[in-house]
Amino acid sequence: MIVTLDGPAGAGKSSTARALAARLGWCYMDTGAMYRAVALMALDRGIPLDDSAGLAELAEAITIEFRDGRVVVDGRDVSTEIRTDRITQATRPVADAPPVREAMKRVQRRMAEGMDVVTEGRDQGSVVFPAAALKVFLTASPEERARRRHQEEAARGNGVALAEILAAQSQRDEGDRTRAVGAMKPADDAVIVETDGLVAEDVVNRLVAMIEERSRS
Ligand code: DC
Repeated sequence: MIVTLDGPAGAGKSSTARALAARLGWCYMDTGAMYRAVALMALDRGIPLDDSAGLAELAEAITIEFRDGRVVVDGRDVSTEIRTDRITQATRPVADAPPVREAMKRVQRRMAEGMDVVTEGRDQGSVVFPAAALKVFLTASPEERARRRHQEEAARGNGVALAEILAAQSQRDEGDRTRAVGAMKPADDAVIVETDGLVAEDVVNRLVAMIEERSRS
């Protein structure tokens, strides 16, 4: 069975998807981490970020695994490295390139084949798994999302201003919404869940109830 969780950054997708997969005993697929991994390997191997054919080839050539909450690429733990600003920036042109998205669609479908999976990203319900048993679009107000990010940054000791986070977030959202291929949008049959004021556990409980209901019918 496949459950997709899409939505903008800061809506609580990662913590929800991770907790949901743990609760169900299913696999967790973080597709943002997959795009980040391709960007990291491209920089490592000197593949230019505007070489979309080269990037697509790379996306299919590398092996990405999710092991105990870590992201492992060709046997190397890249969990921390893929979250740096340098990689966040390099990931944008990678995720925007249509040939890379086509390659990732194939890779993601292959990884999920025959498995019970909670997959998280921007286009999982709308493009990659249109027949998923449950499609969720997780969202929250821009202010709430920026506030969460601000708290995360503060916890890491980074004193970034809230206004700065909000501005960067609007720019990223716009890019995600307007990219030619794989634009972030809810699938027509997605359940929209607003997470303002909710903690991950509330959201997970709600999703588990939906999944149980769907497996009964
Ligand atoms: O969710 P994240 O911040 O780790 O995602 C990293 C980048 O990849 C971000 O620019 C959005 C993009 N992305 C995408 O285009 N499609 C996905 N399914 C997942 C992420």
